[in-house]
Amino acid sequence: MLLLAAAFLVAFVLLLYMVSPLISPKPLALPGAHVVVTGGSSGIGKCVAIECYKQGAFITLVARNEVVLCISVDLSQDYNHVENVIKQAQEKLGPVDMLVNCAGMSIPGKFEDLEVSSFERLMSINYLGSVYPSRAVITTMKERRVGRIVFVSSQAGQVGLFGYTAYSPSKFALRGLAEALQMEVKPYNVYVTVAYPPDTDTPGFAEENKTKPLETRLISETTSVCKPEQVAKQIVKDAIQGNFNSSLGSDGYMLSSLTCGMAPVTSITEGLQQVVTMGLFRIIALFYLGSFDNIVRRCMVQRAKSEGADKTA
Ligand SMILES: NC(=O)c1ccc[n+]([C@@H]2O[C@H](COP(=O)([O-])OP(=O)(O)OC[C@H]3O[C@@H](n4cnc5c(N)ncnc54)[C@H](OP(=O)(O)O)[C@@H]3O)[C@@H](O)[C@H]2O)c1
Repeated sequence: MLLLAAAFLVAFVLLLYMVSPLISPKPLALPGAHVVVTGGSSGIGKCVAIECYKQGAFITLVARNEVVLCISVDLSQDYNHVENVIKQAQEKLGPVDMLVNCAGMSIPGKFEDLEVSSFERLMSINYLGSVYPSRAVITTMKERRVGRIVFVSSQAGQVGLFGYTAYSPSKFALRGLAEALQMEVKPYNVYVTVAYPPDTDTPGFAEENKTKPLETRLISETTSVCKPEQVAKQIVKDAIQGNFNSSLGSDGYMLSSLTCGMAPVTSITEGLQQVVTMGLFRIIALFYLGSFDNIVRRCMVQRAKSEGADKTA
């Protein structure tokens, strides 16, 4: 018993020693900063832009539809085009201090029902549409030794769910990009944030709901829908702090701890919390997974019953 306690103590001290070089980044000063928000014409992106504006930043919005000082571009089409857009923005408002990659969309449906083009479309806009603007700002950020890049993923980028075979991979991909990029740019004082919003009441969410399979809807209904302002506030707060992870609410906290893997941490406290909570959260997650499997099975049985009734009628 004594030996076990001593081993635990040694492991704990070793852990502290290992993580002690982690120094939390200096917060980015938003007043006077130039913030570029892709997907800033609607939903979460629009609220992020408003939040940054309220905090004194100069804003460039990038989307296809024009709203305020907005540069119109389809981010998924061509890198050179996106690079020119970022150049235009830098000429007008100076070098980019913070880039929030929010442009994106979801096309839900069963794997076999989704058009092949939907898989390509979602990788283009959700993944490449974040790679292109980030690639266009990164050199200047590294030269200036200042910058923040935010990737807006999704809780569906942490856990694969029924109906999201096209959407989830495009959001999981952002996490891989963010981890690799963070390791490259951290010595240059550039910090990457991945945000995992839950279901959020936006025009994009309303559009998605029109074609959501019943199973996806029932699984989504196990959690509540957030307000875009609430999500945006959290994203901006975490980006300013240079936090790698940005999540909202107790589900978000649990999912982020569970899926931390080899992701960087921004504070010793965050690392210790992950170590301590991981086992318990895994047990809770198993109950969630069981209930989701039940929903899928019940829908299948119901469908089979109504198809049988149709045939006999
Ligand atoms: N709402 C949710 O429940 C939820 C949950 C988790 C994650 N998210 C993610 O959060 C982000 C914002 O979602 P939202 O719900 O706020 O959606 P939204 O209201 O539909 O807004 C999407 C934004 O992306 C822009 N956009 C879409 N395709 C584009 C393209 N090809 N090129 C340039 N801009 C493009 C749209 O502008 P234009 O149409 O003018 O181009 C719009 O400004 C997305 O990445 C989404 O996957 C949303």
